[in-house]
Order: sequence, then C-alpha cells, then structure tokens
Amino acid sequence: MVFLIKDLAHDTQKGSCKVVVRRTRKEDIPRVIQINRLTLPENYPEFFFYDHLENWPEIFLVAEVEGNIVGYIMCRIETGIGFFHMLPVRKGHIVSIAVLKEYRRKGIGLKLMVESMSAMKDVYNAKEVYLEVRVSNEPAINLYRKLGFQIIKRLPGYYSDGEDAYLMARLL
Ligand code: ACO
Ligand code: ZN
Repeated sequence: MVFLIKDLAHDTQKGSCKVVVRRTRKEDIPRVIQINRLTLPENYPEFFFYDHLENWPEIFLVAEVEGNIVGYIMCRIETGIGFFHMLPVRKGHIVSIAVLKEYRRKGIGLKLMVESMSAMKDVYNAKEVYLEVRVSNEPAINLYRKLGFQIIKRLPGYYSDGEDAYLMARLL
C-alpha cells in the first residue's frame, strides 16, 4: 500500500513524498520499539511486540518514508461481549499507534488506522474495534472521532500515573 503525502519539509522540491504502509517484519521490531519509547509513556517488554506480530501479523503495520519507518500501529483480536452487539463478537483492539513528531499531521496516522481496521474486518472477521486513550490526548481523540469512534466510557486511573482513559469504539 503506497500513498503520497504533501509538504514534507525536507522534500520541498518534489512537493510530495511517498509513504508506504505495509505489514511489519520481525526485523522492524527494534525500530518500532524505538518509536514507541520516543513517543509514548506506555512502553512494553520486547516479547509483547513479537507476540503481537506472530499472532496478528495483518494488523501490525508500519509506515515508511524513503525506507525509514516513521510510524506503526499494533493491534490484536479479542472475543467478548461487544459494545454495540450485546453478544460475544470478535473485537479488534488497537493497542498502540504512533507517528514520529516530524511526520505528524500528514495523514499517516489516519492511513495506519484505516488499513488496520480494514484487515480486522476482512482477515479476522472482527465486528467492532476499540481502544483506550488518555483523556488529555486531543490529537489522538480527534483522529479517532474523525474515524467514527465514540466514547463508550471513562476508565478512572487507567494509566500508571493516575490519568483517566476514554474507552472509544466503533463498528467495523
Ligand atoms: N490536533 C488536533 N487534531 C489532530 C491532531 C492535532 N495535533 N493530530 C491529528 N489530529 C486529527 C485531525 O482531525 C487530523 O485530520 P486533519 O489533519 O485533516 O485535521 C486527523 O486527526 C488525522 O491526522 P493524521 O495526520 O492522520 O495523524 P498523525 O499522523 O499526526 O498521527 C497520532 C496521530 C498517531 C495520534 C500522533 O499524534 C502521535 O503519534 N501521537 C503520539 C503518540 C500517541 O498519542 N498515540 C496514541 C495513543 S492512544 C493508542 O495508542 C490507542
Ligand atoms: Zn488497550
């Protein structure tokens, strides 16, 4: 999956630059971990990343610009009572998404979300998708709202520093 983004600062002559969104490979994991540590307070042990890649390879994606990984999305599939279906369904869970600061606001996060949600539905037969997000994380909340996610509930003290989360979800 390749798409073009405009106005990358270092690419003013061409005016646009190719972004490749593709499945993560095992050898990409150290870079994914690096981006996770640079961008988010929620970090995980190495095995957690490899475990997601092994179990749900179609919904662990990276975004590449000129051969460098600049963002990722890591997801899983769970079965449980739905937020919209009151019976057991498969749910996609967006565990972690991040884009390096210099590459934000160019549509990369949106693209990672759209591609992973489409694979949740088509490959894993998920009916809903959900995630947790810090109540103060306006950029992310706006991104999720733009994609049709609704706030289902507030989770008090969800994060280790005591901040609340919103649980947000939508149908697939
Ligand atoms: N302020 C307001 N709205 C924003 C912002 C912002 N800073 N950033 C994104 N949005 C909204 C806008 O509606 C935007 O559309 P627009 O640019 O046409 O107005 C829409 O989201 C799509 O934005 P993208 O350019 O696709 O998003 P981006 O590539 O910048 O990635 C992300 C968004 C992943 C949240 C990025 O800001 C980031 O990496 N933040 C740090 C890590 C993080 O917070 N991750 C989410 C944690 S929650 C979880 O992982 C489940
Ligand atoms: Zn979660």
